[in-house]
Amino acid sequence: MDMLETILARRSVRQYTDEPIPDEKLNAILYAGLAAASSKNRKPWELVVIQNRGMLDSLCTCRPGAANLLGKCTAAIVVCADAENVDVWVEDCGSAITQMHLMADAIGVGSCWLQVRMRKAEDGRDTADVVRELLGIPAKYGVMAILALGMPASHPAPKTIGELPLHKIHHEYF
Ligand SMILES: Cc1cc2nc3c(=O)[nH]c(=O)nc-3n(C[C@H](O)[C@H](O)[C@H](O)COP(=O)(O)O)c2cc1C
Repeated sequence: MDMLETILARRSVRQYTDEPIPDEKLNAILYAGLAAASSKNRKPWELVVIQNRGMLDSLCTCRPGAANLLGKCTAAIVVCADAENVDVWVEDCGSAITQMHLMADAIGVGSCWLQVRMRKAEDGRDTADVVRELLGIPAKYGVMAILALGMPASHPAPKTIGELPLHKIHHEYF
């Protein structure tokens, strides 16, 4: 599969089996994140791997409804970074999570990006505060997103070039 085929095949997967993710696959996903580009090569991201069922279920409270997929996945990676020391921590975290999401799909692991930053929990608190409290993440760390992971129970169809929003490509002038 060439790179564009791999990218077109990547989809958000929200249905998982109970089968655990093999360690070598989980490690490959984490290595893909750590290999991401980062501004000034600061590598500010921290990746918190959650496989404990109780903690995954507790994390469901971080967003009303939207976080329910954490109750179905078998693992999750919380992506956070020192927001006090790195001005572009959001972009850096986005780079890491994108690579992990793509890597997961390429090796047959389903994954879905669950937004944390700028979102609210069931109790009205910031989603990031709930996640920080549950996982012991220091206050100065911005929590950007959680990548939910699991062996896919189903996988949406790959995209085709024809269904891409090609009108968003502008040549020479907007
Ligand atoms: C910044 C960002 C935030 C997202 N947040 C969520 C989310 O909170 N919950 C969710 O189920 N999917 C989330 N997604 C996944 C999108 O819904 C998904 O990428 C989009 O519908 C396109 O589907 P595809 O990933 O299968 O191409 C997010 C994606 C991005 C890039």
